[in-house]
Amino acid sequence: MLRVIAIDGPAASGKSSTGSLVARELGWAHLDSGALYRAVTLAALDRFEDMPNTIVPTSQILALLDELRVRLVLVGDEFRPEIAGVDVEHAIRDDRVTRHVSTIAALPEVRAWVNAQQRHNAGDQARGVVVDGRDIGTVVFPDAPLKIYLTAMPDERAKRRLSQRGRTVDDAEVRRESAALAARDEADSSRPVAPLKPAPDAVVLDSTTRTLAQQVAQVVQLARRVFPD
Ligand code: CDP
Ligand code: CDP
Repeated sequence: MLRVIAIDGPAASGKSSTGSLVARELGWAHLDSGALYRAVTLAALDRFEDMPNTIVPTSQILALLDELRVRLVLVGDEFRPEIAGVDVEHAIRDDRVTRHVSTIAALPEVRAWVNAQQRHNAGDQARGVVVDGRDIGTVVFPDAPLKIYLTAMPDERAKRRLSQRGRTVDDAEVRRESAALAARDEADSSRPVAPLKPAPDAVVLDSTTRTLAQQVAQVVQLARRVFPD
């Protein structure tokens, strides 16, 4: 049986935090596919400085990924993003990357490249991998025996993202962040290739009124049922 748990859902719904803690509890690895899309975006923005205004051929982006060896590297239980041998886990969270990542992630050739990396990374893990993203249950691992679709109300997600980034959580900031998240969710849900949506057999969990510990416990309980050993 394929030892993959897929966690999908909109921005800041708690996928990575949940994925990481569930993996730790099960003794599995955790792979955040969004980190790879962000690393690709960071590499492209740094190389093609005028990219937001001029269209860069996808073939040039793919060549850059090879040249800079953009990849995920397993450190302990976590796959971490690397560019040219440098860990970029922090740099990929930059606002500039966040603003442009959905455009890059909509390119079919980039998605095919990222999917190949993920399948390769996960294939090396005999113990099992928790993979989170937008299309893990629908496209990347449609045979994953456990699929979770994590949601939360937009304002709650905006508050969580602001607190996570150490920013002020006042009404104006929450409105701004909520609008930015909604725009990204809309872009991710309406693209023709691998749009964000729950797999037909996904368990939908709304975390609006749950703590992180509660949602982790719920996923671990489901995992122990689906993967009994
Ligand atoms: O953590 P956050 O929710 O802000 O986003 P992320 O998981 O880091 O993903 C960043 C972006 O990558 C998303 O907005 C999508 O455009 C793209 N992505 C995707 O298209 N497919 C995935 N499996 C994961 C991320
Ligand atoms: O990966 P994704 O963008 O879906 O979300 P995340 O970065 O894992 O979570 C965003 C923030 O929400 C993190 O600081 C979590 O600790 C927090 N949070 C949560 O994920 N679930 C809750 N029930 C409460 C808070």
